[in-house]
Amino acid sequence: MSSNDFMPIKNWDHLELWVGNAKQSAYYYEHALGFTQTAYAGPETGVRDRASYVMDQNDVRLVLTSGLRPDSEITRFACSHGDGVKDVALTVPSATEAYRQAVQRGARSVAEPHWLEDDYGRVELASIATYGENVHTFVNRDEYAGPYLPGYQSRVENGEPATGIGMLNIDHVVGNVELGRMEHWVEYYERVFGMVELIHFSDEAISTEYSALMSKVMMDGEGKIKFPINEPAEGKRKSQIEEYLDFYGGPGVQHVALATEDIVSTVEQLQDRGLHFLKTPGSYYEELEERVGEIDAEYEDLQRLGILADRDEEGYLLQIFTKTAQDRPTLFFEVIERHGSRGFGEGNFKALFEAIEREQALRGNL
Ligand code: FE2
Repeated sequence: MSSNDFMPIKNWDHLELWVGNAKQSAYYYEHALGFTQTAYAGPETGVRDRASYVMDQNDVRLVLTSGLRPDSEITRFACSHGDGVKDVALTVPSATEAYRQAVQRGARSVAEPHWLEDDYGRVELASIATYGENVHTFVNRDEYAGPYLPGYQSRVENGEPATGIGMLNIDHVVGNVELGRMEHWVEYYERVFGMVELIHFSDEAISTEYSALMSKVMMDGEGKIKFPINEPAEGKRKSQIEEYLDFYGGPGVQHVALATEDIVSTVEQLQDRGLHFLKTPGSYYEELEERVGEIDAEYEDLQRLGILADRDEEGYLLQIFTKTAQDRPTLFFEVIERHGSRGFGEGNFKALFEAIEREQALRGNL
């Protein structure tokens, strides 16, 4: 019996972002990141207080929501945090049972189990609180055949949405929490979700000349759901995690990693669409081939596109990080291609953080 039998998770369900202007965000996720709008709910469908756009790419589902009135909690969220991830929703066999187990283990209730219904069937939902203002919604959609949730209107005329630019599923979702709070949230994911700690990065492992952070990666029993949690550590100057916490106004999701099977093609298409990535110094590539060895891609392509590579005992991975997705230096995305490695690019941390710090210095925050 594995440790998390009390909390079986089938998969990521969706990430809901609360944003200032969902109509314009939908355009960015479609044209820059290759998503297709598949469903919508708003005033035209009888919803009075918000507009939500469901964006799909293979198994990745993002829901972009903005509030329509000044007193909306969504409007207040976007005002206080900027655009950000509000809900990391998980598909479960029973939302009632997942909620019951979570609350019994000390999670704070946000929404009690309830069913939503329309002509396509019914969906069971329940939500609990996690770090900052974030929530986890449990979704049981076994009895539902509609586009997303009851009440949403399909925006797909015939058949399946377009397959996008090769981003296939969510790989991991990273949270930034305050100094001294990482252990608290690690313990929360152990206790409430039965997750186990996959890896631990100390501040020595993840430090540059200027800043440092500590990170622990929490994982469900099947290894499908991975939640790295970062906290700032003492450095000579302001840590990038502190910069995030300052501008976000507290803990929240730092980055979302999306998996592809062909990162060279995916990143070429993202760059053609005008998406900007963190620059990797040319010196990074000088010893890369020696460090990582034989891979199923051309090193010239990696250097041309700025893709990072890393190897551990289990295999290798290729990864790249976007610049932040909004004006505040908060949420960004990662594209990752895994070949056996279950790591997070430990060998790249120094190169990556130096790249982030160059951006931070340009913003005058280092
Ligand atoms: Fe990552």
